Amino acid sequence: MHKKLFIPGPTEVRQDILDAQTEKMIGHRSKAFTELYTGIIKKLQELLATNNFITVLTASGTAFMEGAIRNCVNKDVLCCVNGAFSDRWFKIAQKCDRNPEVITLDWGKAIKPEMVEAKLQEKKYEAVTLVQNETSTGVRNPIEEIAEVLKKYPDVLFLVDTVSSLMGDKIEIGKLGIDVCFASSQKAFALPPGLAVCVVSDKALEKAKTVKGRGLYCDFVGLKDYFDKKGQTPSTPAISLMYAMDKQLEKIKAEGMEKRYERHVAMAKYVQDWGKKYFSMFSEPGYESITVSCMNNTRGVSIADLNSELGKRGFAISNGYGKLKEKAFRIAHMGDLTVDEIKELIDNINEILGI
Ligand SMILES: Cc1ncc(COP(=O)(O)O)c(C=O)c1O
Repeated sequence: MHKKLFIPGPTEVRQDILDAQTEKMIGHRSKAFTELYTGIIKKLQELLATNNFITVLTASGTAFMEGAIRNCVNKDVLCCVNGAFSDRWFKIAQKCDRNPEVITLDWGKAIKPEMVEAKLQEKKYEAVTLVQNETSTGVRNPIEEIAEVLKKYPDVLFLVDTVSSLMGDKIEIGKLGIDVCFASSQKAFALPPGLAVCVVSDKALEKAKTVKGRGLYCDFVGLKDYFDKKGQTPSTPAISLMYAMDKQLEKIKAEGMEKRYERHVAMAKYVQDWGKKYFSMFSEPGYESITVSCMNNTRGVSIADLNSELGKRGFAISNGYGKLKEKAFRIAHMGDLTVDEIKELIDNINEILGI
């Protein structure tokens, strides 16, 4: 039996989108592919309300965590760390031989604008990394307020991981002045894993031209040159996934970005009202994610057993991430899920736990 996915990626993919992957294969240097790919980029620009350069690579989101560093930082970068993925980004910067400094908070806490401002006043950084939605803890960092701080430092690039929020949460790329933001297909896009989307500002592209050792696969300058000349990607893309993405973007457009956002807010509210009533939220009050909720396991139930019981009924949720295993659990409400499906899941959890 298929278990409907309420986990923070891969998310549930609707059958018509899965079916779109079975289109006949085409060559990646054909006119047909150029039409498919340039169409996807146009749709993304429209949905995200930006004219910034957008690239879609056959990769997972981590590729662009590394790409953002390699393209935008020679040496000094400030990494905001308050969970597993923001910590990964910091480690990537170290592995790329950059010189990252950190703001480190306990898991569950949110990065505040004044913390960023204090660091930016101390030293000249080339960029700041922020994971807007920490999937490991269910924290939504206050990107709108942090963006206001970054605007006072126009030489500092704003690199934002929206892996588990783009296409669910509201991310106003232009208004917030985000220089690089990226996401993985298997999250709020509600697509299978395998594609990563990256949106790059002109400022970031100009900076990239001055950075050595950008590598090849995620080189923003090379990707843009190739796209401008050929309307394609330099290396062979996952064409089947591109068919699925093309169709999914049409469906997202039909739903409307505002409506999609409102649906995510409604799902988050339902889960979090329930989470506060029967458990407690792991995330700092006021900073709850709108795509994934992380609850403390205050009732001391076996999350593994709960999930296996749910599995028999056709649902899957997530245990706590890493060190939070069994101490917390997560319910994702992202992608194409509906409030009714969330209610059905919660009813089943209540029945299993007898609450
Ligand atoms: C916030 C965040 N950043 C980065 C990643 C890494 O993305 P990927 O697994 O697509 O490489 C994830 C994956 O869950 C994530 O949630």
